[in-house]
Amino acid sequence: MDLKLKGKTAIVTGGSEGIGKAITLALAMEGCDVAICARRKEPLEATAAEIAKATGRTIHAIPADLTKSPDAKAFIDAAVQKLGGKIDILVNNAGAAAGGTIESLSDEQWEAGLQLKFFGYVRCTRYTLPYMVKQGGGRVVNLIGNDGVKESYWEVCPGAANAAGQNLTIALAGQYGKNNISFCAVNPGPVRTERWTGLVKAMSRDMNIPFDEANTLAPASIPLGRIAEVEEVANLVTYLCSPLAHFVNGTMIEVDGGQDKALMDRARDKR
Ligand SMILES: NC(=O)c1ccc[n+]([C@@H]2O[C@H](COP(=O)([O-])OP(=O)(O)OC[C@H]3O[C@@H](n4cnc5c(N)ncnc54)[C@H](OP(=O)(O)O)[C@@H]3O)[C@@H](O)[C@H]2O)c1
Repeated sequence: MDLKLKGKTAIVTGGSEGIGKAITLALAMEGCDVAICARRKEPLEATAAEIAKATGRTIHAIPADLTKSPDAKAFIDAAVQKLGGKIDILVNNAGAAAGGTIESLSDEQWEAGLQLKFFGYVRCTRYTLPYMVKQGGGRVVNLIGNDGVKESYWEVCPGAANAAGQNLTIALAGQYGKNNISFCAVNPGPVRTERWTGLVKAMSRDMNIPFDEANTLAPASIPLGRIAEVEEVANLVTYLCSPLAHFVNGTMIEVDGGQDKALMDRARDKR
């Protein structure tokens, strides 16, 4: 299938590692030029060079901290300018919120989680929309997370940030359809990245069980018996970025292997 992405321009936040890197690679393989951001310059530039070499596309590396509104604005403006003044696709992906129970999470952890995972998405969307409106359309795909629709008491902070992001995605679809801009949310379950490893370490610490034992909890809650690989999320996002999927609007798609989150909480209760 030709996804008709050749020559399109895309912004992927948090594109240096993990799911964002896989999305950047997949979009570039389909013929997109991409602008990516992250806080750390070196890994960002290394990823951009690696993907440019592998695909022959132009990948712009623009360091930015999306918890800071001026940084987010400067990133979007620079990205659009470097991409030739046109932005077809925005993928909001840079996000992280600490796992833990309501008793263990500090105000600072709650604030940090919402700052990046929710307000980072608000900022990049707000600064990108005027360009898309002016050019007569665009596509926004938000990488959120299944905690927003499948609650877990150990993931109340990501769950709250995700639910807010999901609500925002659907609300904006209602507002911007008249501008030919469509929105959708992708909700991964556990995906094999550094972030996931960090969450398993936190689970192991909070539950006072070995890492290897904590690492069995998520696969046991997924009928397919394993967590996702980054490419499985990137493939879905790439399809959704295609003009072929423009009508998939104001909705959310889980890519979590059919995970039953409650099973993870029940397994934690037993320990
Ligand atoms: N992995 C999972 O199991 C999973 C499950 C559900 C949902 N998700 C969601 O999927 C998205 C990607 O997750 P991931 O696991 O791929 O994350 P990751 O491996 O930790 O990568 C995060 C990316 O975001 C960048 N980043 C972090 N803080 C930033 C900031 N303040 N400003 C700009 N960039 C920043 C990181 O680079 P720097 O550190 O250099 O800034 C990196 O490029 C997140 O929104 C996450 O919530 C992940």
